[in-house]
Amino acid sequence: MVEVIARAANQGTALAARYDRPMPPLHFPRVQFFGRTWQEYEQIWNLRLDDLHGTRVLDCPCGPASFVSEGRKRGIDIVGCDPLFALSIEKLRAQGEADIVDCIQLIRTENPRLAGDDPETYAHDKRLALDELLDDFSKHGPAGPECDSRYVNAALPVLPFADRSFDLALSAHFLFTYAPVEDAGMLETREFDLAFHLRATSGLARVAREIRLYPCYGLDPTRPMRHPYADAVLEHLRSIGMTARYEPSTYDQGVPQWNFSIVASW
Ligand SMILES: C[S@@+](CC[C@H](N)C(=O)[O-])C[C@H]1O[C@@H](n2cnc3c(N)ncnc32)[C@H](O)[C@@H]1O
Repeated sequence: MVEVIARAANQGTALAARYDRPMPPLHFPRVQFFGRTWQEYEQIWNLRLDDLHGTRVLDCPCGPASFVSEGRKRGIDIVGCDPLFALSIEKLRAQGEADIVDCIQLIRTENPRLAGDDPETYAHDKRLALDELLDDFSKHGPAGPECDSRYVNAALPVLPFADRSFDLALSAHFLFTYAPVEDAGMLETREFDLAFHLRATSGLARVAREIRLYPCYGLDPTRPMRHPYADAVLEHLRSIGMTARYEPSTYDQGVPQWNFSIVASW
């Protein structure tokens, strides 16, 4: 953390100040269909994703991330699930494009630190990820000519997969992020409260030998902080018999002090 702040200071005081100011909140009435690229997933999880060859991986929620498509091209057995995978390709495209415009605009005006040091590249990567997902989904999604169950319509906490059927389940930018606004998340409703988080992480833990959750920081307008549910989730995973820990992430969202994922395994 100290090195990250020192690096930022060398790049100018404006950037260094970005790390010290409180985090302005972003509010949404529903979860956004907004996704990351393969390279961003490598940074988020601090994993060499090519090391996943020979394993079965779940991306939940997948959203418009390109992880499934890019991983499948590399020969890795990845399944992505999301409740929006019930939609047609046209509706997914419309929602993905609208959510990119809205999110980027809100991030620019309310909370530029979430776009890291290079907002243009950040926005560009979201479009790349959406295009890659849609291209693959049109072929291999539920209505595609080469449907192969790599895209599954499913929602936490109840997943339609057998016990321990995945070696690894990754869950980014849904848990913690879409907690209620008053609990340092972005959602205007209380749909994804702490009780939901405990059920959802039990659901992920049932289907995978290892689970990873990111991010674990809170979007608190008064100060950078660990998410108020994170310790409770970590303790919950330990209480059901998993080994659980925080692990540093290298994905830059301007919160170096609290930039961790939760990693839990049986
Ligand atoms: C911001 S995207 C995250 C995509 C990807 N994991 C990433 O980090 O780029 C959040 C996704 O959560 C999905 N979602 C909403 N409710 C959900 C639920 N109950 N269980 C699983 N996913 C859900 C949304 O449809 C949306 O696509």
